[in-house]
Amino acid sequence: MTPVGIDAVEIWTGKLQLDLPETFAPAKDEDPDKYRKGIGLEHSSFPDVYEDIVTMGANAAKRLMERKGLTPSDIGRIDVATESAFDNSKPVSTYIAGCLEQYYEEDFRHANKGERKFACVAGTQSVDDAYNWIRAGRNRGRAALVIATDTALYARGDPGEATQGAGAVAMLVDEEPDLVEISTEQGYGSMDETDFLKPNQQFPSVDGKRSMQVYLARMREAVQDFESVAWDMHPDDFAYIPFHTPFPGMVRKAALLGYRHMSRDTEIEEELSGELGYQPRQDEYTSWDAYEDAIRDYMDELKDTDQYRAWYDKTIEPTLGISRHVGNWYTGSVHLARIAAMKYAADNGRDLTDEKLLIGSYGSGAQAEIHAETVQDEWREEIDQLNIDAQIAARYDLTYEEYEQVHDSHNYEKSNVDLEEFTNPSDEFVFTGWGRMNER
Ligand code: CAA
Repeated sequence: MTPVGIDAVEIWTGKLQLDLPETFAPAKDEDPDKYRKGIGLEHSSFPDVYEDIVTMGANAAKRLMERKGLTPSDIGRIDVATESAFDNSKPVSTYIAGCLEQYYEEDFRHANKGERKFACVAGTQSVDDAYNWIRAGRNRGRAALVIATDTALYARGDPGEATQGAGAVAMLVDEEPDLVEISTEQGYGSMDETDFLKPNQQFPSVDGKRSMQVYLARMREAVQDFESVAWDMHPDDFAYIPFHTPFPGMVRKAALLGYRHMSRDTEIEEELSGELGYQPRQDEYTSWDAYEDAIRDYMDELKDTDQYRAWYDKTIEPTLGISRHVGNWYTGSVHLARIAAMKYAADNGRDLTDEKLLIGSYGSGAQAEIHAETVQDEWREEIDQLNIDAQIAARYDLTYEEYEQVHDSHNYEKSNVDLEEFTNPSDEFVFTGWGRMNER
């Protein structure tokens, strides 16, 4: 079977940054270590006043198409995943296609365009849609452009304010991919949940603690479902496990849960049994609560073992290297985690060819998806061409007062920015104001 997967990626970060321990924590009268050690974020990326989901997505897509030498006639499909969409009728992909058409002076008349929404998991769902379209033989030799783009902003004063971010990931899904082949097997955990929602409102209503429990519950179900169609996984089956990363502290919890599950009935559990005893089995307990308490106690001890720490440092920590400096990118977040891990390998001279990745995607509302990927032999050339370090380093560092002004400028109810003053960067798409879409 011809391999299908992700051929190339590009990233576009918001041009501003908020330093969480140094700028945000003092303004909120909080301990900087809550951000550095607890939540695990150093910075959040912010969109400048002339940036939005369209400009970030179009700029990432333009970089990707230019680098791969593509024109609109090579693309048969544009899927945009976002939970920050501003138009209840036209998909964001039409706005992005409009930007690219101006640049290329060639249209995407032939391309199927859409918008996917299921909170953060929509980025992976869009990749799945593109994969299925190619597998079904409907692509007529063309590739799919998948763009995950979000401004993850919360109302000021909301606890979620600590986990904001903004950026876009553009991915080219194609046959014979250079980066990763995607497995046909998928596992799902999906339930109607109301812990994180935005019904006709710009900023989310969130029950933060509950949202973390729901993430873990759905992820556990997805892992079990994946095992039922793929194979019983072992922690060492994967070079890296990129999870959806709203903030690194969340991934610490997901990784521990995954390791406990995968090490069950393996030599790892046997080796650890002298120190920790065997993992609690449900049939040993008379109630679910007692079983859960026993599992929690087991995991508390497991996380401090040398085996677990070594596995975490090798398999999980490299996935968090970009997220720590950009915050939550919602639909792009798990794809950023994949890139961070592959970039870490490239920077450290590790050859990933033929190695496996396990991708743990998640979206509130709520659904988790697990699938595996196999790294392809051209991966290194692709990853070496990314300029994410330079983009991160070039961001303007906001004072707290400036942060408040920029946040207001993106608030539909408060914004009164004179865009003429700001929309001057050359060589990129910028937002010039409503009703002036064609000037982007
Ligand atoms: N030193 C070290 N650690 C510290 C600390 C200090 N001085 N102070 C606090 N911490 C630790 C806390 O112990 C906690 O860690 P644990 O969870 O391991 O106990 C961590 O820092 C965060 O502290 P709090 O729980 O006190 O933080 P908070 O009340 O401000 O809320 C939050 C944190 C719930 C994540 C909040 O930011 C939030 O609501 N975020 C938005 C929702 C979200 O991201 N949910 C994630 C799951 S849903 C999802 O993934 C979809 C999505 O993208 C939104």
